[in-house]
Amino acid sequence: MLHLHRILLRRLLISWLLISIVIGSVLAYHGIENIDDQLVELATADSQRLSAADLSLINGHTGDGALQRLVRDLMRDRFVVVELYDRNREKVLEEINPGFAAIEDYLKQSPHDFPFDGRPHYQRYHVGDHGVVQVLVPLKEASGATAGYFEGVFVIDPETLARLRHELILSLLTILAVVLLTTVALYPVILSLNRDVVRYSRDLLKGNIELMEVLGSAVAKRDSDTSAHNYRVSIYAVRLAEAAGLGDDVMRDMIGGAFLHDVGKIGISDAILLKPARLDEQEFSIMKTHVALGVDILAKSNWLQRARDVVEFHHEKYDGSGYLKGLRGEDIPIAARIFAIVDVFDALTSKRPYKEAFPFRDAMAIVKGHAGSHFDPRLVAVFEGMIEPLFEDIRRSSDHEVERMLHALIERYFLRATGELKAA
Ligand SMILES: [Fe+2]
Ligand SMILES: [Fe+2]
Repeated sequence: MLHLHRILLRRLLISWLLISIVIGSVLAYHGIENIDDQLVELATADSQRLSAADLSLINGHTGDGALQRLVRDLMRDRFVVVELYDRNREKVLEEINPGFAAIEDYLKQSPHDFPFDGRPHYQRYHVGDHGVVQVLVPLKEASGATAGYFEGVFVIDPETLARLRHELILSLLTILAVVLLTTVALYPVILSLNRDVVRYSRDLLKGNIELMEVLGSAVAKRDSDTSAHNYRVSIYAVRLAEAAGLGDDVMRDMIGGAFLHDVGKIGISDAILLKPARLDEQEFSIMKTHVALGVDILAKSNWLQRARDVVEFHHEKYDGSGYLKGLRGEDIPIAARIFAIVDVFDALTSKRPYKEAFPFRDAMAIVKGHAGSHFDPRLVAVFEGMIEPLFEDIRRSSDHEVERMLHALIERYFLRATGELKAA
């Protein structure tokens, strides 16, 4: 459960950060756009103070004193630079606030960009500590024709910039707090929904595992009376895979495969399956078809596909002399190579209608004798290092206890792991 909390909190925190970054960027963008829009409106309003007479003066290039006074008026109000251009984009008049000559020098470095669409245009610059906005407004005659251009340069002083930035940060923090509160309020809801999902998927998984056991037992009923062989080989296989350092995925494939390895025997006739003597060549070739039959049965269930590696390749041999495909070495899936060892080992150490159980040492000698031919020699070495105490443990346990041991492994590799997976 702790694990689930950690994952959920991490995800919520990441979402919170991402939402905050997106909202913050949008806010910042709109905040700046807003300032620009206001300045463009100001410049447009000011440019409209130029009368029709002023416009003809501009194009008459007279530089009339009244025009100059008006421009100076505008400048005192809010501009640091005001320029007027005639309809040919020739500069007619320029007034610069002497304190801001450096800004005009800076702006002169980039050539003028006159608006062609007849609408105000603006450009934003940063000069030193100052935010500078240069607005160009086309001047219109009553007929709608462009009579010239009005250019105003605004300087946003550092205090105003700081105030705007402060306001922006404040509204950003408000939004972050709101998003965080929403997240915190939603947490219990998400948690309980998640618990439901985990519970449902556990139930579903349990159903699948039961189906796997039922199928395995159904086959076992045909050639022996108990499922004990299936339980034992599943435990041996998982323990060998653990000792070989394999991952949880292989463990799950292994348990499913060990349980269902001979599921295809359901399609083999009693005369062959239960024959108390050695099979002749023709009978043996029919017996071999249990592998393909098993693959065919598993094909009906997506979930049981995990058992396929073992079902399809559990009679392959390391030297390539096995069946059905005659795969060799590491071409045989690891789950099947592991399973081949434990299946033979358990058959040797178990009593069958036609033979007594081999003592542990004799069985091990046979397994080792086939390392490199039937079995993967590296896995045989690992097997030799871990099997004896486990074998003793299982030998002393009842069928019921063996079943419980396997269920503990199923709990570890399927149920617990899946609970965590679903939580993630
Ligand atoms: Fe088999
Ligand atoms: Fe078997």
